[in-house]
Amino acid sequence: MKLNWGVLGAAKIAVEKVIPAMSGSEDYQVLGIASRNLEKAKAAAVKSGIQKSYGSYEELIADPDIHIVYNPLPNHLHTEYTLKCIEAGKHVLCEKPVALSSADVERLIAARDKHGVKVGEAFMVRTHPQWLRTRELVQQGALGRLHLIQGAFSYFNADPGNIRNIEAYGGGAMWDIGCYPVNTSRFVTGEEPEKVLALIRFDKDFGTDTLASVIMQFPSCQAVFSVSTQLVPYQRMHFLGEKKELEVMIPFNAPKDKETSIRINSGDILQQNIETLSFNECDQYRIQADEFTRAVREGGEVPVPLEDAVANTKVLEAVFRSAREGNWVSL
Ligand SMILES: NC(=O)c1ccc[n+]([C@@H]2O[C@H](COP(=O)([O-])OP(=O)(O)OC[C@H]3O[C@@H](n4cnc5c(N)ncnc54)[C@H](OP(=O)(O)O)[C@@H]3O)[C@@H](O)[C@H]2O)c1
Repeated sequence: MKLNWGVLGAAKIAVEKVIPAMSGSEDYQVLGIASRNLEKAKAAAVKSGIQKSYGSYEELIADPDIHIVYNPLPNHLHTEYTLKCIEAGKHVLCEKPVALSSADVERLIAARDKHGVKVGEAFMVRTHPQWLRTRELVQQGALGRLHLIQGAFSYFNADPGNIRNIEAYGGGAMWDIGCYPVNTSRFVTGEEPEKVLALIRFDKDFGTDTLASVIMQFPSCQAVFSVSTQLVPYQRMHFLGEKKELEVMIPFNAPKDKETSIRINSGDILQQNIETLSFNECDQYRIQADEFTRAVREGGEVPVPLEDAVANTKVLEAVFRSAREGNWVSL
């Protein structure tokens, strides 16, 4: 029997990336989509070839035919609606950040355990082969001892109506994209930061953070990164060991229809002798959905469990506190 997914909200990420990635599986299907507006839900259902549409999120959550819910609502609604789904006995894959406080992630863990369902945070990058290989190379010592991680992630979006620029919706650079360098640094090192220091610029109209620079002290290395919602689109992650440097070329928005690559440089500053490892075309949203569904069916762990989300969220909380207080914050 196919497992049935339902989607809360006709969000851009759902309609453009996640739902198309899930088509054609023998194991599962997207059966329904809900919107605050029934016409919008119907239009999204027609566009995406989905059978059922609902004029409220509650109707989808109450539908016994739906087994797994994908929650791509604005950030401030993640915890509230994920909780409603859990309480209705649904498994939930929730978009990042799954909550805007670690206390809220703990509430989700308690509800998940009470109701015996699977809940995961949609950090799809963690399922992409380029990140699995990066982690393997670093942890095997292929770069020599790792001492430094450098990262950057930016785009330009100054639309006052966009959820990323609305403070009350959990907008801002750190919650939207700063969570990725934090998450991938933790993933690759297998460590948690001991302390963080952050400098943040807030937009005077939006009230959201539009530029953030962060230093994280890990037990074995330092990680520094900057993120911005008002800069030229750019994304890169570098891992520097004593012998080699590894660069993930499209770390976060890896395209599904092009090869991706990581480049390893043994210290050639002219960059003439660089080893390139290529990865076949693959859709990280598809791998994420496949793995999440398998965990539900077979009872294993979801790709990014809530225990990981607690740790990631604590780092983001510390980043904001550090910027506010102008000091290092220990974790
Ligand atoms: N993993 C990734 O690669 C990735 C990429 C982009 C975004 N995301 C995450 O996905 C989530 C959605 O991002 P998005 O760019 O797709 O956003 P979006 O297009 O603005 O979609 C958000 C949806 O939430 C619903 N909604 C409910 N209450 C709302 C309110 N008060 N204001 C606005 N929308 C409301 C709307 O659906 P209805 O009108 O149909 O009810 C809307 O379509 C965010 O949490 C973001 O962090 C993840």
